[in-house]
Amino acid sequence: MVKPSRTPPAAPAAPAGRGVDHELRVGSTAHYDDPAYYASAYRTRAEDVAFYVALASAHGGPVLEYGCGAGRITIPMARTGVSVVGVDHSEAMLDELATALAKEPREVRARVSAKRGDMRELRIARRFALVLSTFNTFLHLYTREDVERYLERVHAHLAPRGRFVFDASLPSPIDLARDPGRPLRTPPLRHPSFGKCRYAERFDYDAARQILFVSMEFEPLSADQAPFATPLAHRQFFPQELEALLHYNGFEVERVEGGWEGEPLDRYSDVGIWTCRARSLRKSRPRAR
Ligand SMILES: C[S@@+](CC[C@H](N)C(=O)[O-])C[C@H]1O[C@@H](n2cnc3c(N)ncnc32)[C@H](O)[C@@H]1O
Repeated sequence: MVKPSRTPPAAPAAPAGRGVDHELRVGSTAHYDDPAYYASAYRTRAEDVAFYVALASAHGGPVLEYGCGAGRITIPMARTGVSVVGVDHSEAMLDELATALAKEPREVRARVSAKRGDMRELRIARRFALVLSTFNTFLHLYTREDVERYLERVHAHLAPRGRFVFDASLPSPIDLARDPGRPLRTPPLRHPSFGKCRYAERFDYDAARQILFVSMEFEPLSADQAPFATPLAHRQFFPQELEALLHYNGFEVERVEGGWEGEPLDRYSDVGIWTCRARSLRKSRPRAR
């Protein structure tokens, strides 16, 4: 269990694994090591919850949700009667999910099972009619190999005629072009553990790897608290590139929406929501010449 602490979240130690990019490892974990701040930062985000709840109720479950985190979407889905298996690699987020579930009625608790693991690897011995990857979880797949390993897992967990639905923020040319030397200041905010803070975000886009590195910089106003920064790394997927990746990894895109109320994806969309089915990979017989 992660206890509220007065210590700013520290960057995780460098991993021992060969070839693991520490910068990316930290960029996919540090933001989630502080679930209290995460919950306060996204407390008013409701449209995606309504979208996934309606989708899960229409399907009836069971649902496999990759990147379930602290259950912001998982628990509302379970409240409507749908069973959800949540997968996440963040111990802190899953602890928070357990705490939140403990406050739910027994029948809701019974519908949620959480598994800690890497979405590119975890094997679950069942198939699901609906597989989800919620709130930019897909953007933590940084390389083609990451995407291939992950989509292979989704494919393996999808029931025949099942659907894979996920959302991803679309690359914003303004954010990609920001000068990392000039932090973007917002009005002061309240951090649940450190109180009122000056806050700024620094954007640093690596165009070769198509990864946007965001540094969230907190400067607590209380004299005894040192400033700290939390890194977040998001792969930037352009829509046509994503369609190709899905196609060549065995998925047929049924629909892409550009907003939570079914708006079409167009040049002004800042989010994409992809609904896919597994494509039959059976090779057609070579024709006799
Ligand atoms: C933006 S959060 C979304 C959490 C939750 N679905 C929500 O909407 O609040 C992304 C989640 O993906 C998880 N995640 C990132 N990379 C992962 C990986 N390789 N395997 C499993 N989970 C991962 C993070 O720990 C985090 O909880």
